[in-house]
Amino acid sequence: MTRIAVLGAGKIGEALLAGLLAGGRSADELVFTERHPERAAELTSRLGVEAVDVATAAQRSDMVVVAVKPQDITPVLTELAPVLRPGTLVVTLCAGLPTALFEGALPAGTPVVRVMPNTPMLVGEAMSAISPGTHATDEQLTAVEKMLASVGRVVRVPESQQDAVTALSGSGPAYFFFLVEAMIDAGILLGLPRAVAADLIVQSAFGAARMLRESTDHPVILREAVTSPAGTTIAAIRELERHGVRAALIAAIEAARDRSVELGRGER
Ligand SMILES: NC(=O)c1ccc[n+]([C@@H]2O[C@H](COP(=O)([O-])OP(=O)(O)OC[C@H]3O[C@@H](n4cnc5c(N)ncnc54)[C@H](OP(=O)(O)O)[C@@H]3O)[C@@H](O)[C@H]2O)c1
Repeated sequence: MTRIAVLGAGKIGEALLAGLLAGGRSADELVFTERHPERAAELTSRLGVEAVDVATAAQRSDMVVVAVKPQDITPVLTELAPVLRPGTLVVTLCAGLPTALFEGALPAGTPVVRVMPNTPMLVGEAMSAISPGTHATDEQLTAVEKMLASVGRVVRVPESQQDAVTALSGSGPAYFFFLVEAMIDAGILLGLPRAVAADLIVQSAFGAARMLRESTDHPVILREAVTSPAGTTIAAIRELERHGVRAALIAAIEAARDRSVELGRGER
């Protein structure tokens, strides 16, 4: 049994705790820390998980998950370093922060695993990519995979690919929300009530996502199946290509990757 402490139970930290409970973990195996006592009390009454201070969290757990905002990391590591038990696995969900930063601030030899999750963790459908630091073992990576599997899917990538992951799946949900928003606007332009347009588009997105995940076919094959000769879909596709939507998406994701590199260097 791995006892888990979540440091910083905001959106992602709470989603992780809720996912672990839904996945069959007992509340006794979990603890969390929070800055505001009211937020801590509210979470404890909702989830049944105890709020503790950092020293107690470190003492009681085999895995410490850091889920504070990247800009709040320094005080957390300063507090954690003197109380961390040797061999405790530290898992960071902080976007852009390298494992080397944790290894430098924590006792020598501390195993660290870096995770890039995304917000669908809130509904148990996260896409997380994990990378080991210098001292994390394969067994520890497997433990992290198992933990994250209760809130979605997990892949392993070298840490050098985490900026690309951030640009694709970390920010990815925002691109889909943006597309859905634009498609609802199109429905309104065509005279549909907003609620009807939203229903049509959201269910279409959900159905398309399930087909993409459940089918072994390439997306091109799935798209061709709804693109009949001289039909409506090809008329739309021609406009998407004419407006450079494919190139815009590639450039947008490249820009997100570049921004992730800048943030990782501490540029704000
Ligand atoms: N949300 C996303 O889409 C997403 C995606 C990928 C990765 N992440 C990463 O996940 C991490 C958490 O993001 P989030 O969206 O969940 O942020 P969030 O909602 O702001 O949660 C962070 C929580 O940590 C608390 N906190 C800050 N310093 C603390 C301390 N010293 N001790 C105890 N608690 C402390 C914050 O309290 P206050 O309210 O007082 O600040 C807040 O409740 C970030 O590092 C982010 O990069 C987020």
